[in-house]
Amino acid sequence: MDLPTAPPTLPGASPCPASIGVFDSGVGGLSVLRELRTQLPSAPLLYVADSGHAPYGERSDAYVIERSRHIALHLRAQGAIGIVVACNTATAIAVRHLRELMPELPIVGVEPGLKPAVAATRNGRIGVLATPGTLASEKFQRLLQAQAGVTVLARPCPGLARLIEQGDLAAPALRAAIEAHCAALRAADVDTVVLGCTHYAFIRDHIEAAMGAQVRIIDTAHAVARHTVRTLAGRFADPGPAGAKSSAVTRLQTTGEPQRLREIASAWLAFPCTVEGI
Ligand code: DGL
Repeated sequence: MDLPTAPPTLPGASPCPASIGVFDSGVGGLSVLRELRTQLPSAPLLYVADSGHAPYGERSDAYVIERSRHIALHLRAQGAIGIVVACNTATAIAVRHLRELMPELPIVGVEPGLKPAVAATRNGRIGVLATPGTLASEKFQRLLQAQAGVTVLARPCPGLARLIEQGDLAAPALRAAIEAHCAALRAADVDTVVLGCTHYAFIRDHIEAAMGAQVRIIDTAHAVARHTVRTLAGRFADPGPAGAKSSAVTRLQTTGEPQRLREIASAWLAFPCTVEGI
């Protein structure tokens, strides 16, 4: 199936290059975006952080579906020829609706890496850190039931994404929350921890330190980017060798404060981006 080309540009509007659209409730999906940038150095990327409406993980399903539809339509109108839902919560609750809404666009979602965790565990005890919305979803419950022969401690982390959204990874309140969640996982004797929210990739070092070097941490950002490359292969002139210095533009848009996103992007991403409010 041929993918649609970018929609025509309206007279007077700025041109919309064909791009990969990526979104999250906020800055967490930047952990997926940086993998996409590495693996698709020549693809224009357009990222929307819905920080004005974060967190999704503590909202009703109807709210998450409505926000996800709104942003996906915006990305398509901006020229996205594929969409990466860089949010476990939005994927769990809304991805089916997005695929019905725009069947012509490939849509890649993310889910907690339970399958790689089952392959990695040695003692059969796995911890999953995720939002309450992800863990309560039918999609996650089905994923959980499909894993046989392991014990899974699924730990909801209300408030954790909101603390990461603040951008200060050394904040005492954030460090205390990480310690509380990790203490529960240590008490359950897990040897593998799944980062089931894209925000948590940015506190991976803190989680590693709190759990100890013997515990494996599973983050699916790399695998999601690989899957996106396969899904969109051939759609961009020359994807370039993975890891090459990027020649393509990376645009970040936010429904929150552009200045905060600018500061976070320059601290957390190793490539240049433009930032604008929407
Ligand atoms: N980053 C999101 C996820 O992967 C959601 C965080 C939130 O908004 O609650 O689930």
